Amino acid sequence: MAGTMCFCFNCRPLPLYLYLIKLLFCIALIIPGTSSSNRDVVVLLRVKANELQDPSGLLADWQQSAPNAPCNWTGIGCDNQTNDVVSVNLTSFSISGYFPADFCRIQTLRFLDLSDNNFNGTLSPEALTLCSHLQFLNLSSNLFVGGLPELQTLFLNLTTFDLSVNNFSGEIPASYGSRLPNLQVLRLLSNLLNGSIPDFLTNLTELTRLEIAANNFGPSPLPADIGRLTKLENLWFPFSKIIGSIPESIGNLKSLKNLDLSVNNLTGKIPESIGGLIAVEQIELYANQLSGEIPDTFSNLTSLYNFDASSNNLTGRIPESLTGLALQSFNLNDNNLEGQIPENLALNPYLYQLKLFNNRLSGNLPVNLGRNSGLEDFDVSGNFLEGPLPPNLCFKKQLDRLVLFNNNFSGPIPESYGECSSLTYVRISSYELSGVVPPSFWSFPGLTIFELRNNRLEGEIPPTVSNARNLTGFLISGNSFSGQLPEGICELEQLQIIDISSNRFSGKLPSCITKLNKLLKLDVQENSITGEIPTSVTTWTDLTELNLSGNQFSGTIPAELGELPDLTYLDLSENLLSGEIPSDLSKLKLNKFNLSNNRLQGRVPSAFDNEIFISSLVGNSDLCSPDLKPLPSCQKRRPISLVLVGILSALSGILVVSFLWLLIKSKKLNLFAGRGKKSWKMTAFQRLWFNEEDIVAFLSQDNLIATGGSGQVYRVMLKNGPTVAVKRLWDANRGPESEEVFQSEVETLGRIKHGCIVKLLFSCSGDNFRILVYDYMENGSLGDVLHGEKGGVLLDWHTRFKIAIGAAQGLAYLHHDCVPAIVHRDVKSNNILLDEEFRPKVADFGLAKTLHKNMEEGGQLMSQIAGSYGYIAPEYAYTLKITEKSDVYSFGVVLLELITGKRPIDPSFGENKDIVQWVMEVALSSAEQPIANDSAKICADYLDHLVDARLKPSTSELEEIRVVLDVALQCVSSLPMNRPSMRRVVELLKDKSRARS
Ligand SMILES: *[C@@H]1O[C@H](CO)[C@@H](O)[C@H](O)[C@H]1NC(C)=O
Repeated sequence: MAGTMCFCFNCRPLPLYLYLIKLLFCIALIIPGTSSSNRDVVVLLRVKANELQDPSGLLADWQQSAPNAPCNWTGIGCDNQTNDVVSVNLTSFSISGYFPADFCRIQTLRFLDLSDNNFNGTLSPEALTLCSHLQFLNLSSNLFVGGLPELQTLFLNLTTFDLSVNNFSGEIPASYGSRLPNLQVLRLLSNLLNGSIPDFLTNLTELTRLEIAANNFGPSPLPADIGRLTKLENLWFPFSKIIGSIPESIGNLKSLKNLDLSVNNLTGKIPESIGGLIAVEQIELYANQLSGEIPDTFSNLTSLYNFDASSNNLTGRIPESLTGLALQSFNLNDNNLEGQIPENLALNPYLYQLKLFNNRLSGNLPVNLGRNSGLEDFDVSGNFLEGPLPPNLCFKKQLDRLVLFNNNFSGPIPESYGECSSLTYVRISSYELSGVVPPSFWSFPGLTIFELRNNRLEGEIPPTVSNARNLTGFLISGNSFSGQLPEGICELEQLQIIDISSNRFSGKLPSCITKLNKLLKLDVQENSITGEIPTSVTTWTDLTELNLSGNQFSGTIPAELGELPDLTYLDLSENLLSGEIPSDLSKLKLNKFNLSNNRLQGRVPSAFDNEIFISSLVGNSDLCSPDLKPLPSCQKRRPISLVLVGILSALSGILVVSFLWLLIKSKKLNLFAGRGKKSWKMTAFQRLWFNEEDIVAFLSQDNLIATGGSGQVYRVMLKNGPTVAVKRLWDANRGPESEEVFQSEVETLGRIKHGCIVKLLFSCSGDNFRILVYDYMENGSLGDVLHGEKGGVLLDWHTRFKIAIGAAQGLAYLHHDCVPAIVHRDVKSNNILLDEEFRPKVADFGLAKTLHKNMEEGGQLMSQIAGSYGYIAPEYAYTLKITEKSDVYSFGVVLLELITGKRPIDPSFGENKDIVQWVMEVALSSAEQPIANDSAKICADYLDHLVDARLKPSTSELEEIRVVLDVALQCVSSLPMNRPSMRRVVELLKDKSRARS
């Protein structure tokens, strides 16, 4: 017992209450005759009473009277022989409090695991010193802040030290390189550490795991003598701003199993010494700037099964020492590799994933590829490969993705591919493939995308295409397919895109095609299809593009087309359509409108009676318009005696009009040439009555309404027209990034249309400026209204609730109805605009990304963090993977803003806390009931603390707020998996509104 007392007297000055606590410990420990387990009971109970908040009551069985106390208590482990407490394991107990270093007063303690709780505050060097006898200390996934504690003494026993996933900041102290002589596992990842990766870490030669990535380290190289860590099994530095080259000494890491340096700025060659990593199982070097040839030194790496060096600047040939290994996954896509794919790759019995796309590989594919291994994912698109397709690619019947487009393959699609029923994703556009497609190749039940564009394939589509029930994209344009489109196509209920353009199809479109109510695009242009356009098209509620041009459609244009809410592209030109243009078509908001070269008659509906539609209407000799020249004007039939006069006046009319027309045209051209704006690129997304000239004149200081990071926003009232908002992007720092913002905005907003998404009217890009023109939103942004300097308009709860639902619907549309899906990436209250009736419109798509289906499951990798502070999902900073779920998190933050009226970051929350942590904490601290995780039942009393004081909600509104808060907490769940989809969020919110009425 003697040794246990000294700590009472040699500590630094302490606050009185802490001193008293310590004194109590001392008294407990010096009572003569107390057995060690009794002493431990006292220590543990003191810690529980004074240092832990246990809202879930999980430590309720810590009772002195319990038999065999404390060894049977939850989380406590004892030595079998001595009954001394040796371990305290409270992982995932929802416990909060400061670091309870007093656990370490139990001198027999070896193992302390407090991971995944809500411990907060700083970690002092003194507290840590108290624990210097531990072997295992895990404080990961808590809320600790401040600098990493200096090590004041030697931690001789410590083998595992895990402080990962906290908010520690500052640099790694030098003492970590000298006072942890036996450390095997050091985990500091996912904190806010800065500085650089310190060289002194290579002194920790016992390390098997060194995981310090996902911090804020500045650009730094790997320590040159990293090779000293010969016991290291895991060198894990993805997304770590690592610069310089891979150190030559890396080859000394004989125990290394996992080398992950992906997504950094590594330059130079892959060192030849990499061949020394004799234990390595996985090498991830993707997304760097490695260059030069891949060394041919891999032949000893017999355990290597994953190799990924994609997205670098590697040149030369693929070394045979690499393709000869027992790789399962082999990815070198997006480099500049050339030469042939080595034949020995086909001998590998384990290979299931091969991605070599976007290189300059040439020659034939190894003929036996697929013969020896169950290939699943095969993508060699974007090379110069040629020759026949290997017949055995699907020999093992496991091929899922077959991606060959942009090569020069020739010959037929092998007969054996017709038995590859495992296929779900097929893209074969290669220009030279010919012959008849094996009939069963069309009808695999799991197919989602089927693309055979731009080949010389022929034959008919078999009726069994109806078996491909999961098909969403059917893209076979630019071939020589013939016959009729079979009725079986109507069974494919998931179809969103049909493109059979530029083939030799004939006969009628099956009338059942209108059953396909998920269809977004139907393109059959340039075929020989006959018959009438189906009239029952109102089922096509999602259709945005209909292109029937260049066929032999006859009959009239169905007025029902005007009922399609999303149709923006309508091309019926070059057919045999007759009758009048239905005036219902003017209900559409069209970007593309072409009825030219048909046999249409009668008067042009007034909505199209505008100069900009002339080219859409020409070639219909019997169309007329009162003032749209050069169409004939609409004259009533006149008595024969007047015909001559009529003809004469018409002729003179035409002369005058032609003259005027020429005049106007030349003047316009002059206007343009005179101002030197030849390089302007203008894109209109809606039917417009103004052009860039009208707008530029108004971009003056008087009309400026906002200045932001990306540019200035003006309010422009057009002559005789609507008020628009004009965003002028900065020119000064016009870099690739700002260009990307512009392009992203134009590309995403240009192709979508939804009542809850702001409408981009047009964009204009010139040599020295770029502007974006939107509908003007009377009430500014939700952020302004909630947090504006004027105190904002005090939105009542009902309005706030409607804003929540509208914004959720807009995001749900982006995630679930756009193909491919769009992730906004910058959802925040400042990007939700409000019109004159406070209806929300999601805006600002400068960071939006289209999620391409061919990216790996689980999201798309970004090169850097984007988004706004306070709204960024926690996993995003850590993995840089974006999925729809990162938007869901940000939306959850917006819901919390609506409820609390507070900004996401506010000093009143306390240091290093954001609105999410604050709300969680208020919820936890004033809860009377035990709270299960995020989506817990919310108690009314803490609603009082949370709800915006300006709201004064009624009881029934309070109920509604409670459920919205519940939805919000689900959205901000730290695990993306636990967040609902936006579609589900809409359902949940709408349920609430029903519950209310
Ligand atoms: C079709 O898609 C559904 C939903 O994604 C999936 O569950 C099902 O397994 C697919 N069918 C086939 C045959 O792959």
